[in-house]
Amino acid sequence: MASTKATLEKITALCKRRGFVYQSADIYGGLNGIYDFGPLGVLMKNNIRNTWTAAITATGETILFIEGAILGPHAVWQASGHIEHFHDPMIDCTNCKRRFRADELQIEKPCPHCGNTAWTDVRQFNMMFKTDIGATAGHSSVAYLRPETAQSIFINFKNVLATNRVKIPFGIAQIGKAFRNEITPKQFLFRIREFEQMELEWFFKKEDITRFFDFWLNERLAYYHTIGIKRDHLRLHEHGKNELAHYSTKCTDIEYEFPFGWKELEGIAHRGTFDLEQHSKQSGKDLSVYDEETKTSYIPDVIECSVGVDRLFLSLLFDAYDEDFIGGKERVVLKLHPRIAPIKAAFLPLTKKLSAPMKKIYADVARLGWAIEFDESGSIGKRYRRHDEIGTPVCFTYDFESEQDHSVTARNRDTLQQERINIDQLDTYLINLITQ
Ligand code: GAP
Repeated sequence: MASTKATLEKITALCKRRGFVYQSADIYGGLNGIYDFGPLGVLMKNNIRNTWTAAITATGETILFIEGAILGPHAVWQASGHIEHFHDPMIDCTNCKRRFRADELQIEKPCPHCGNTAWTDVRQFNMMFKTDIGATAGHSSVAYLRPETAQSIFINFKNVLATNRVKIPFGIAQIGKAFRNEITPKQFLFRIREFEQMELEWFFKKEDITRFFDFWLNERLAYYHTIGIKRDHLRLHEHGKNELAHYSTKCTDIEYEFPFGWKELEGIAHRGTFDLEQHSKQSGKDLSVYDEETKTSYIPDVIECSVGVDRLFLSLLFDAYDEDFIGGKERVVLKLHPRIAPIKAAFLPLTKKLSAPMKKIYADVARLGWAIEFDESGSIGKRYRRHDEIGTPVCFTYDFESEQDHSVTARNRDTLQQERINIDQLDTYLINLITQ
């Protein structure tokens, strides 16, 4: 499991206390299942996005990136099957009117909120957010917020192919917002209504399915290790026939062991030719590719790797959270991988009298382009604790000796070891730390 000390309550409180995540619209009572990200949260999310992009690019395979629109017309979701299939079974308590997902509840048991035993019938609830575009309401102006980013990729498949020098096999990737009107958003960022996905659609010839499925599964698993998630906190779960989504014929989830159990972090799915064929039929546009070797046209198969940024954010926090004692005092520490840590280094003058030279060092290192912090107020112990709690991998302290030896003390967040580093070597020290 994630650090046994990390509970959902502690992680939620830390995120609020330190400005990682805020309940959206909290001054108006909040919006259930919707969150805003604060300064540290934004930095950490950027690091997640960057490491994901770097990891799939580093495979050396041809991957192109797009940024599709969030709103899509009725026809897209008709073709993708989301109008027909994207439902969750919903049930209401007749007494307190609370709403639940029927597949998550044992309805022979009393309502977990009020104890009543009478339920409404189970209804199918479509999870897409629907809206109208333009001033006149009518079927042609109906649009939906995308429930997955993948469809933007499929509807742009021909555009990408026609405007770039690519051949099958290749991938199209995208990071962007997705929206689902979840009946019961829960467990903080785990299941929310507005979230972000990182999706890769890999287009290939059907006969290569085994090779590419194994390839992407291994690559994606390796990614989590490079960003510091512990190996025994991840496992694979192959879907049984009754678990598969309407578009998929094979799917393996990478699961993370949250304090509330093993749950899907990323899905790797063989979507076959389903999406391109559906969009071909619905739009009347030919989405096949021409094979120079066989002189025939065919619709390529697709493997999809799909992970939520917010869910990964939560997993990383659970994985990194720790509590220990230093000098008899309890410390909360986020042992985030330096690539993921929002602030890479803190620059702390021992006293305010030493602020000026440390500020200059800070300004020089800031030119590297990483988020670093200069912090001069409070006792040095308190400043260390604050940076431990937000996951800053190293704190540099400028003291009276620094004037003589042109060095600062580097204090490692995890080992607590301290070493003197020559000020001229700070750039190299940081580069090595972050790219390890
Ligand atoms: N395109 C395929 C797809 O959307 P999915 O399993 O429904 O498949 C993929 O979602 C990933 O998106 C999940 O593994 C999860 O990380 C994330 N995700 C899905 N629904 C989410 C929600 N309501 N809140 C947060 N993350 C979510």
